[in-house]
Amino acid sequence: MQISVQPYTNKPKIKAIILAIFQGQDIHPHAFYKGLPSAIQKTVFAYVKAKEFQGKIDEVKVLPFGSKGQVLVLVGKGEEKDWSLRSIRLLIRQIVVMGKQHRIKEIALTLEDFWLKDFQADNLAEIIAEQIYLAAYEYTVYKSTPPGGWPKINKVLILSKKHTAAEIKRGLKNGIIIGEAVNHARDLANTSGGDMTPTSLAEAAVKLAKEHGFKCMVLHHQEMQKLKMGGILGVARGSDLPPTFSILEYTALGHEEDKPLVFIGKGITFDSGGLNVKPETSMFDMHMDMSGAAAVIGAVSAIAQMKLPVRIVGLIPAAENMSAGSAYRPGDQLRTMSGKTIEVKNTDAEGRIILADALTYAEKFKAQAVIDVATLTGAAMAALGQRAAAILSPDENFSKKIQELAESSGDFAWPLPLWPEYESEIKGVFGDVANISNSRYGGAITGAAFLWQFAKKLKNWAHIDIAPTMTSIEGQYLAKGATGAGTRLLVAIARRIKL
Ligand code: BES
Ligand code: MN
Ligand code: ZN
Repeated sequence: MQISVQPYTNKPKIKAIILAIFQGQDIHPHAFYKGLPSAIQKTVFAYVKAKEFQGKIDEVKVLPFGSKGQVLVLVGKGEEKDWSLRSIRLLIRQIVVMGKQHRIKEIALTLEDFWLKDFQADNLAEIIAEQIYLAAYEYTVYKSTPPGGWPKINKVLILSKKHTAAEIKRGLKNGIIIGEAVNHARDLANTSGGDMTPTSLAEAAVKLAKEHGFKCMVLHHQEMQKLKMGGILGVARGSDLPPTFSILEYTALGHEEDKPLVFIGKGITFDSGGLNVKPETSMFDMHMDMSGAAAVIGAVSAIAQMKLPVRIVGLIPAAENMSAGSAYRPGDQLRTMSGKTIEVKNTDAEGRIILADALTYAEKFKAQAVIDVATLTGAAMAALGQRAAAILSPDENFSKKIQELAESSGDFAWPLPLWPEYESEIKGVFGDVANISNSRYGGAITGAAFLWQFAKKLKNWAHIDIAPTMTSIEGQYLAKGATGAGTRLLVAIARRIKL
């Protein structure tokens, strides 16, 4: 896809021209697209006047004009008082999806149609480009190509009345980097469990590191044994596939001495539940249980491409959770890198076990902050629905900062409490920490309370449970499957967090 910029007054030589209109907006027939034939301008005017097009959210009208098969597409912005950053993102995605449905390959948008008070042109251009990429994405690797190919948008032209191409292009560049990184995370997560193994996940990180100029080192079974990572090794035992532990590192020039931000991503490449096997319907999506890892890999590669003035470490513990004669059992006690033992009460609470070792490994970086991203609990989905990830940190202020960055990035997340009282629910009987709570309630919180036991020596630690946002839902104008949740949030943290 190509996104280019042109001054608004040019008559765009492009298949589809988008005109975004507020509900009840006063339309002047010649105020739009001066270069267009007056016939089409009159048609628009008549439509709006007759209320055939009202500008409501989700409203779309395709109006053919001219002799070259061009179309003018009216899209509704809803009421002006409700117009927000959230509406901009959704509308851009809707336009792209509409384009794909109508097999329109080229569209032109006017930057000012999407303007929000206090915005900068580069800001808005970034959001537009990012959302175009997110909406254009399809995962077609395992499907035969239909006759005529997959519907695809080849070209988006951004027209602007007031802003320079240089300003807009600066924003577009970042938006494309972020959009591509999220889509890359979606590709990794959408790849089936048989193809995306702990080894291929590590290889994907190494490949991106080479491409975008950051470091990636991979620890294998023996090295993990030396480090006494009994958590990861325990979970991996039932699988024929060996675990991996990848360490990504990006350091901007001149930031070699900085204390890094550490991002940790859960990399369970398939979660069968282990001996506590999952029922059929819950197991189906579990090749995406490495979505946290995908987010970290995507974010580090975006940060490296944007050359942000930071130092970032990404840690990816990766294993497959299977049942077999060699699998870890309920009742097993796993000795972790921290020295603490984990009393396994349920082999399906495996993510927290591999993260325990990663949190301990993180201690050596003396990080400014450590954020783990994981598809950890169904309970987080029960608590929040599928529109926000859960943020858990013993530091309420830190949670709030992350919540704000989540909102501004479009990668929504919301805090749940993590109070010391919850720690009593995960005490082991014979071991130090039990991997599930003795209460059936608040599973997202007790999952975090478990992780907290391994994060006591870390400064500014937060856990993001992205199980809720792992897959897209109806009405989001996103392809079915993985969303790349967490990627944009981590990029926003690296860009803007104030500790
Ligand atoms: N990977 C799952 C959580 C999950 C569920 C992610 C649905 C995405 C969608 C995790 O490993 C798991 O199995 N969690 C258990 C924990 C329980 C055994 C305490 C759960 O949520 O049921
Ligand atoms: Mn599980
Ligand atoms: Zn899992």
